Amino acid sequence: MADLTVGIEAIDAQHTKLLTLVAEIAVQGRTPGPGARHEERLGALASKVQEHFTTEGSLMRKHLFTGVEPHEEAHRSFLATFAGLRQDLLAARESAPMTERFEALVGGWLELHIDGYDKVLARFLREKGER
Ligand SMILES: [Fe+2]
Ligand SMILES: [Fe+2]
Repeated sequence: MADLTVGIEAIDAQHTKLLTLVAEIAVQGRTPGPGARHEERLGALASKVQEHFTTEGSLMRKHLFTGVEPHEEAHRSFLATFAGLRQDLLAARESAPMTERFEALVGGWLELHIDGYDKVLARFLREKGER
């Protein structure tokens, strides 16, 4: 796994929180049982993701980042995928297989997005003096 640190303190702290929640959901999901046990963490993840995208959006606008459109489009498309997977996971009779899918898609998306879009954004923000 590549180093996912981007070098902007607030963004890195939020990324860590998001990836930790996904990992906790994955661990919880490997124990056979109904998906409903995921409800609390999925709710926390949804609100932390929203908060995180707002943080990045504010920083992009504050510094007139030219890549704001595609970056926010990526965030929107993630939110749509996440909403569907969240429903599927909660509805699953056995959570283990659905959790695998959730971890692969949500965790995988986050890692790729951080390693690509967010690192590009962070480099720009650091040039603007953000830490
Ligand atoms: Fe982002
Ligand atoms: Fe991010």
